[in-house]
Amino acid sequence: MAYILSTNERAEALSQTVAALRNGETVAIPTETVYGLAADATNGLAVAKIFAQKGRPSFNPLICHVDGMVMAEENGLMNDLASRLAKAFWPGPLTLVVPLHSHSKLHDLVTAGLGTVGLRCPKGFSRQIISAFGRPLAAPSANRSGRISPTTAAHVANEYPNEPLLIVDDGPCEVGLESTIVKVDGDHLTLLRPGAISIEALEEISATPVRFAKSTDGIQAPGMMASHYAPDAAVLLNCSSCARGAAWLGFGNQPAPIDTSPSLNLSSSSNLTEAAANLYSYLQKLDESGAKTICVAPIPMEELGIAINDRLTRAAAPRPETP
Ligand code: TXA
Ligand code: MG
Repeated sequence: MAYILSTNERAEALSQTVAALRNGETVAIPTETVYGLAADATNGLAVAKIFAQKGRPSFNPLICHVDGMVMAEENGLMNDLASRLAKAFWPGPLTLVVPLHSHSKLHDLVTAGLGTVGLRCPKGFSRQIISAFGRPLAAPSANRSGRISPTTAAHVANEYPNEPLLIVDDGPCEVGLESTIVKVDGDHLTLLRPGAISIEALEEISATPVRFAKSTDGIQAPGMMASHYAPDAAVLLNCSSCARGAAWLGFGNQPAPIDTSPSLNLSSSSNLTEAAANLYSYLQKLDESGAKTICVAPIPMEELGIAINDRLTRAAAPRPETP
C-alpha cells in the first residue's frame, strides 16, 4: 500500500522523507516537471530498488538531483558553459550531462558506467528534501518503465498499488513534462531530450549553437528508445477525424469529431504550456476510459510543442513484445 504524505505538514513530510532515504528506501517525490522515484544516489542497494520497482532496463543512467552548484560540482565537472546554463536555469527543468568528477561518491548504477553524469537542480519541495538529506538523489520519473510519467501523487499510487511506497504529495506538477537534457562536451552542446527549456533559450544564454543527437550516437538518453511513454491504448497522431469508439485528445479551438467519447482538449486556447502540463494526465484519463485507441489532434511543432510531439511520437511507436 502506498502511503501519501502531504507537504501541508512541511516539517513532518521532510523528516519522514529524510528518514526513509537514510534507511535506503525509495520515496516518490514531487518536482516541477513530473514525480520522481528517488533514492540516495550514493547507496547502490537503494538505487537498485529504483530499477526493480520501475522494471527499468538497467543500461539506463539516472538523473542525479542536487540542491545547487556546490553539490553539482562535487559530482560533475562543471565547465564555464555548464555553469552559465546552471546559473540561468537552476533550480528548474534543465538536466546537464557533464563528465563525472573523479571524487564523486555516486554509485555506478546511477551513471550506468558512462563516465558522465546527468545533473539537475529541481524547484520546490524536492530541493528542500535534498538539502535536508545532504546527499544527491537519483530519481527517474516515478512511472513503471515504458508508461506515462506521473504528474500527481495519485498517478504514482496507481503505478504501485501493492508496494509500501512513501509518496510525498505537493499537488500537480507545474510543468508536466520531463526536463530538457543537454550534454555539455567542452564547448559543444547536444540536445538529448527536448523539454520545458527551449533550444532558443539555451542558445541565447550560452551563445552556443545546440546540435541534435543523432540516432547513430548510441543510447545517450533512453528517452531515445522507440516506445517509451506508452499508455495501454494505441495512439494515433495528427488526426483530423476519429473512429467510433476511439478517444479524442484535442488541441486548440477545433471541436472534437462528432460521436467521439471520451474526449479531452489539451488546451482550447492553443497554449502549449497548458497543453504540456495536461499531457500525461489526459493520456492517462483517456487510457483509463478503456478506449482501445486514442486519436490526437495535430500539435504545432514550436516551443513546448516540440517536446510534446516528441513524447507523443514515443507513445505512438510500436510497443516492445511483453513476455
Ligand atoms: O524531469 C525530469 O528529468 C524527471 C524528474 C524526476 O527529475 N526525471 C526523469 O528521469 O525524467 P528519467 O530517468 O525518466 O530520464 C532521465 C534521462 C534518461 O533518458 C537518461 O538516460 C538520461 O536522462 N541520462 C541520465 N544520465 C545520463 C548520462 N550520464 N548520459 C546520458 N543521458 C543520461
Ligand atoms: Mg521517464
